Amino acid sequence: MRKPIIAGNWKMYKTLSQAVEFVQEVKTSIPESTKVDAVICAPALFLPSLVKEAEGSALEIGAQTMHFENEGAFTGEISPAQLEDLKVNYVILGHSERREYNNETDESVNKKVHAAFEHGMTPIICVGETLDDREKSHTMVKVSSQVGAALKGLTKDQVAKTVIAYEPIWAIGTGKTATSEDANTVCEGIRKTVADIAGEEAAEAVRIQYGGSVKPANIKELLSMEHIDGALVGGASLEPDSYLQLLEAGA
Ligand code: G3P
Repeated sequence: MRKPIIAGNWKMYKTLSQAVEFVQEVKTSIPESTKVDAVICAPALFLPSLVKEAEGSALEIGAQTMHFENEGAFTGEISPAQLEDLKVNYVILGHSERREYNNETDESVNKKVHAAFEHGMTPIICVGETLDDREKSHTMVKVSSQVGAALKGLTKDQVAKTVIAYEPIWAIGTGKTATSEDANTVCEGIRKTVADIAGEEAAEAVRIQYGGSVKPANIKELLSMEHIDGALVGGASLEPDSYLQLLEAGA
């Protein structure tokens, strides 16, 4: 049985005080015995405070990106070693917004995935097709090639521990969600791709999230699908009430 993982991706929202308030409110409402992994991926500036605030609770803190090198002349970047030092558990890699605006490529995502494992973090690897890909029936070709590139050179054990987020780009922040059947079909395809790369055992273990306009009203149906093991949520993860409802749906 795969443990569901509900991760909030806050993107560039909130101030530090709002972020700390959120964690203070949410951490006391998540029971220790929760059946989901509850993660918030926050802006890098907030990470030290949020890790400290969430310590001892069931809430885990993740980053939204990182460089693959540990140090160097990379102005504005954050290194894997710096995140490890802060005790950050997860890192989102290859989000479509980073691929579009910050030049993240399949190749750099792969290097970052390796770096995440070297520094004790679980990578949440984002893949997904554009509307144009979908209309040309290229969804699976696109997504499989992103998955293949991201997982290159990992051990089977590392692949098994990876989280893959299937986020169709046309569904992000648009209010349009893939139907649960469509999302499940693509997630099943991703699992087959993982099996081809790393074998059945790793494919059975890898957790695949859906992301794109997930909210309390649609998460239950998405999570009821065989190959969807959680959600990566933007807008609906920003308010404590809404985030807690998402967690409850997974429990
Ligand atoms: O990474 C989460 C994401 O891109 C989806 O955002 O606002 O559509 O839930 P949203």
